[in-house]
Amino acid sequence: MISHEPIIWNDSYLTGIERIDEQHKVLVSTLNEANARLSLNVTRDLLEKITRDLLSYALYHFETEETLMQEYDYAHLASEEEARHRQEHRSFSQQIVTLRDGLRDGRLISREELLSFLNNWLVNHILSTDKRLGEYLKQHMPAQDD
Ligand SMILES: [Fe+2]
Repeated sequence: MISHEPIIWNDSYLTGIERIDEQHKVLVSTLNEANARLSLNVTRDLLEKITRDLLSYALYHFETEETLMQEYDYAHLASEEEARHRQEHRSFSQQIVTLRDGLRDGRLISREELLSFLNNWLVNHILSTDKRLGEYLKQHMPAQDD
């Protein structure tokens, strides 16, 4: 279980696919930056900005992974895993949208609650789902392509 404390990047998070790993590092920095900003003050404006920027980068990142899945035929060769992976992305995005709807209705979330959710989701997703995709891509994509 990951806490709401900042994530310290380590090599066990690497999927071996450079494009994905670079984006994961950006996501980790984004969460750590949000963490630092929220430790000073938690306002609705700040929570809205943080969740908007995060959602926008997460969608871009999911698109990168899903394009690679498509390019290298993940759906055909690992169809259940591919569907489950996409579903995890959809479910994360939906949870952020729900959280943002709540903010708009005046329901704030604490720094601890928000960061525990985000850190846990990201680290667990990287360590299991994304690493399985990484293993697959390492076997199926030419090395110079990543
Ligand atoms: Fe993913």
